Amino acid sequence: MWQCVLLWCVCVVALMYALCRWLIPAAVHRHGRLALLWHDVCVEPALDWLTHSSRPQRLLRAVQKGAVRGDARSVVANIDRFCHHSEWAMNIGDEKGAILDSVVSEVNPALALELGTYCGYSTVRIARLLPPGGRLITLEFNPEYAAVARQVIEWAGLEDSVQLVEGGSGDWIPQLKEHFGVQSFDFVFLDHWKERYLPDIHLLEECELLRKGTVVLADNVVCPGAPDYLAYVRNSPAYQSSYFQSHLEYTKAVDGLEKSVYLGTTDA
Ligand SMILES: C[S@@+](CC[C@H](N)C(=O)[O-])C[C@H]1O[C@@H](n2cnc3c(N)ncnc32)[C@H](O)[C@@H]1O
Repeated sequence: MWQCVLLWCVCVVALMYALCRWLIPAAVHRHGRLALLWHDVCVEPALDWLTHSSRPQRLLRAVQKGAVRGDARSVVANIDRFCHHSEWAMNIGDEKGAILDSVVSEVNPALALELGTYCGYSTVRIARLLPPGGRLITLEFNPEYAAVARQVIEWAGLEDSVQLVEGGSGDWIPQLKEHFGVQSFDFVFLDHWKERYLPDIHLLEECELLRKGTVVLADNVVCPGAPDYLAYVRNSPAYQSSYFQSHLEYTKAVDGLEKSVYLGTTDA
């Protein structure tokens, strides 16, 4: 009798493990919203509870364990390995990251702005491609994420070219000129909460932080999506916009990046 109960328990645990480890992740791999729901609402809190740590802390440990200090490429590669094989995270990821790299290399920005640092993955990708003397200002309003990002950026040896600002984009954008002596940005990467894309591009325009030729690249324009922002940059005569189709980070669900070149004010 007891042997039967034990066997039944072992089977249930094995089934649950297989479901959570392989079957559900495989099922949600091609469905962006389901993937976000599964990884953020189910897996992350469970792993936080089991490990008494947060996802950013686990990601940082993977960097400190596997990446070569001062080698930005190795930091990026280790985060990608962690996210493919251990735990999904909301970095831009390797596939869209390659598109980000090509746009940054093409623009070769002396001054860049990133909205939404998270753990510093895209920050490292951008900063490692800046020309000598180039500078990246990155904004993150979550103090825990900002603390992890600082350590990831330092591990990559890029602390001299990155200024991480802790605070919300709505508060900080109007202060960037005065606080950092900025004239305008050559490149802006939008990767914070999607409902802030449209108000913040308007704020960047109002504060005259965009110049003719500034390239604005926006992530996740399909998943989770930023329809109001897309409608604006695609229909405004102030922008020339193009879309790069790709996949949601570390999945096969469709997502994409929108590259918008600012053509200057259309006022008479
Ligand atoms: C998708 S993650 C950024 C991922 C990061 N760019 C990467 O690829 O590695 C979005 C981040 O933006 C931050 N965020 C959201 N809204 C923000 C705002 N208005 N100002 C500053 N940070 C914000 C969130 O806390 C989160 O860490």
